[in-house]
Amino acid sequence: MQFRTVHVEASRSYDILIGRGILAGLGGFIRPLLGNCRLAVITDSNVDALYGNAIMEHLSAAGYKACKYVIPAGEASKCADNLLAFLNFMAGEQLTRSDAVIAFGGGVVGDLGGLSASLYLRGVKYVQVPTTLLAAVDSSVGGKTAIDIPAGKNLVGSFYQPSLVCCDTALMDTLPKDIYRDGCAEVIKYGMILDAELYKTLHTLPFDREEVVARCVEIKRDVVQQDEFDNGIRGLLNFGHTFGHAIEKLSNFAVSHGEAVAKGMVIAARIAPLCGLCDVADELSALLAQYGFDITCPYSANEVYDALLTDKKRRGGKISVVLPRSVGDCTLVTLPVEEVGVLLSKVIV
Ligand code: GLY
Repeated sequence: MQFRTVHVEASRSYDILIGRGILAGLGGFIRPLLGNCRLAVITDSNVDALYGNAIMEHLSAAGYKACKYVIPAGEASKCADNLLAFLNFMAGEQLTRSDAVIAFGGGVVGDLGGLSASLYLRGVKYVQVPTTLLAAVDSSVGGKTAIDIPAGKNLVGSFYQPSLVCCDTALMDTLPKDIYRDGCAEVIKYGMILDAELYKTLHTLPFDREEVVARCVEIKRDVVQQDEFDNGIRGLLNFGHTFGHAIEKLSNFAVSHGEAVAKGMVIAARIAPLCGLCDVADELSALLAQYGFDITCPYSANEVYDALLTDKKRRGGKISVVLPRSVGDCTLVTLPVEEVGVLLSKVIV
């Protein structure tokens, strides 16, 4: 079985394994880390229908006793009710502190599974098995776990690193095109913030999935190792997200995360020259268009500004935005919120 390994040194050190077909080896990968424990697999209805039997069979063939908990697919599942229900499920199955959680799915399952693992019996180990490109390059790496509450997305969570990330890129073959494309926005983000070489590679489609996922994960690893708890450089990963989240929220989540990030990255790129930085907006827009993204902003500058005011990353009267200095080099700029409002009015017309 061929795979690449990216090692992360954080409050818990772990490997991220990336390869086609490696789900079959999951039991063997986890044995040295978890020993002979019981496993609670959390997944969603879409992933369960496609791969639920396969994962249970692979774990059973490796000698593991595993139980499965399925949540409905979709962001609405990332809620307190499901968190509590999954905790009750694990208690009902009498899982102990030496047992573990396997989060098998996209970002919703990963965030909910990770948070549950951090809470159950004050913390049990967990393994991320991402099934979307977005989860593979972002949420399954770096230990951010969360649920949404009525006041906003990801407002309740913890930093809790997994024991292993096992990314089988073959699972992405069945992703609907728009879900795969959401991940591509995040991949383009990595190129723009820190890797001009990766950015260049992305102009040739289709890209080599294993190579690109591994490179994105290395970039995220390097950032997380410097700033695990998100007090500084980890903010660079939010390129396009500050404005993107505002657009997502305004659309009541009808605009997907990837589409919103694409729009947000273009807004940030247009703001950069107004702050004395370089202008890569046309170049970035052309690449995003190659992937089929609509980069227009369907909201007015005032609407985006009002949505920004409730951003959880706002600190006092200031907000940090990530702006390109050139392709492959972004910087965090902290600006008074009112100034961001003025800049928005110049770039969203
Ligand atoms: N998704 C941004 C981060 O993990 O910090």
